[in-house]
Amino acid sequence: MRKQIVAGNWKMNNDLPQTQLLIDDLKKQKLTSDAEVMIAPTFTNLWHAFEAFRQEHIEVIAQNMHFSESGAYTGEVSASMLKSVGIETVILGHSERRAYFNETDEMLAKKVDAALKNGMRVIFCFGEELADRKAGNEENVVESQIKNALFHLDGDDFKNIVLAYEPVWAIGTGETASPEQAQDMHAFIRNTLDNKFGKDIADAVSILYGGSVKPNNAVEIFSKPDVDGGLIGGASLKAEDFFAIVNAF
Ligand code: 13P
Repeated sequence: MRKQIVAGNWKMNNDLPQTQLLIDDLKKQKLTSDAEVMIAPTFTNLWHAFEAFRQEHIEVIAQNMHFSESGAYTGEVSASMLKSVGIETVILGHSERRAYFNETDEMLAKKVDAALKNGMRVIFCFGEELADRKAGNEENVVESQIKNALFHLDGDDFKNIVLAYEPVWAIGTGETASPEQAQDMHAFIRNTLDNKFGKDIADAVSILYGGSVKPNNAVEIFSKPDVDGGLIGGASLKAEDFFAIVNAF
């Protein structure tokens, strides 16, 4: 049985007092599904959030990290630094990192390696842009993003990899992929993994969907057989909405 996961990516939102308010609201919510729940605050609030959720069923995760252990990389944070404040999971390859911070497949492959070497779990994001989909090229784009960053791994490494398909045209736009579009792509992704690593691994990897998931569309999206959860942006900033999505399972 694949893990069902709903992760809230707070992006660059919430200072410390706002983080505390959202934590208080999240603690009031009732978890009625079996999904694993995660939230990804900004670096400055990770330790605080980790301490706040120590006894709760919410894992605090990071939005990014550098591939080096330490050194002259002003402004960056390493896997071991994240681990030292209790963080065991990191989001890598988000389209905003790729688009605004020039993260390439090559860099992402190194980041994935560094995270795994440090015993961390990775939520690896990828997805096509609108022009790719309009040109009917979405599967090629997704396949190459996966191949370039993950195909050098061993099958065993996938125990610590979660995939997140986030079509760029659906992020923050209010335009969600239809449940059928999500299912078709997730099945394609699983098939891509099957061809390279075999069925057992392909069947065991959780594949999340991200892009304008809201309380009113989560049930339908999560009902698809190859959709194992969601990576939630905007709707994760309101505790009630986020838990409505978590409990959609
Ligand atoms: P939205 O849910 O705001 O579209 O963001 C999705 C996302 O980018 C999650 O990582």
